[in-house]
Amino acid sequence: MWSPNHPPRAIAIDGPAASGKSSVGQRLARHLGYLYFDTGVMYRAVAFLAHEQHIPPDDAERLGALARTVRLDVLPAPEPPHYAVRADGRDITWALRLPEVEATVSAVSAHPSVRAALTEQQRRVGRQGRVVMVGRDIGTVVMPEAEFKVYLDASPEERARRRYAELQARGEPVSYEAVLAAVRERDHLDSTRETAPLTRAPDAIYVDTTHLSLDEVIAHLLNCIERGSPSPSSGKGGPPS
Ligand code: DC
Repeated sequence: MWSPNHPPRAIAIDGPAASGKSSVGQRLARHLGYLYFDTGVMYRAVAFLAHEQHIPPDDAERLGALARTVRLDVLPAPEPPHYAVRADGRDITWALRLPEVEATVSAVSAHPSVRAALTEQQRRVGRQGRVVMVGRDIGTVVMPEAEFKVYLDASPEERARRRYAELQARGEPVSYEAVLAAVRERDHLDSTRETAPLTRAPDAIYVDTTHLSLDEVIAHLLNCIERGSPSPSSGKGGPPS
């Protein structure tokens, strides 16, 4: 069992797009002095490089070869988004949220060849400990041995509202309806793919963030850590339907 003085070595946070994983993961990592590792950026990096190299998102063989051969480094950075992603030494952090990447990353990440290569790299980071890892399959596939697992969720409408506000703040012209449709499409692809679909680990705490502020979610999770209880029944809300 852990305590504030002996927090869990590895924390796994999974959940659908815009459920609050990045904000919660970053805050928790900062609070504990842990590395924050958003595994989605690795899939985004492969999707971007594939786009650059004109590899179609359905070419499993070439995508797998790309994922196996490229050296991806995810480094902490002082400025938001608080990490830098390098592909063979080149900084590609700026490219990871491009519309071309958004459009293909779910398809790229569905290939078992791509997942096998990136899962291996992610495990290496996870096994070093003192890490908060965020993704879709961390508690189920990448780090099933993580001592503290969280599944964050929120209604599709609320997640679309958050994404829409982010895009508006960046001055990107897009309608709420289009964002909601993209969220639903991403949910469908991420949870129905054959390899490592998005699903809640049986021992993960389930937190529905639809009506919770970031502070409330963090307070709840720190409380779970303090109590030393990984029990899913201590989580807020019920299991995803
Ligand atoms: O969290 P995100 O939006 O940056 O993730 C981008 C894509 O990568 C998303 O469609 C799901 C996929 N992904 C995954 O399959 N497994 C992970 N561990 C992380 C992300």
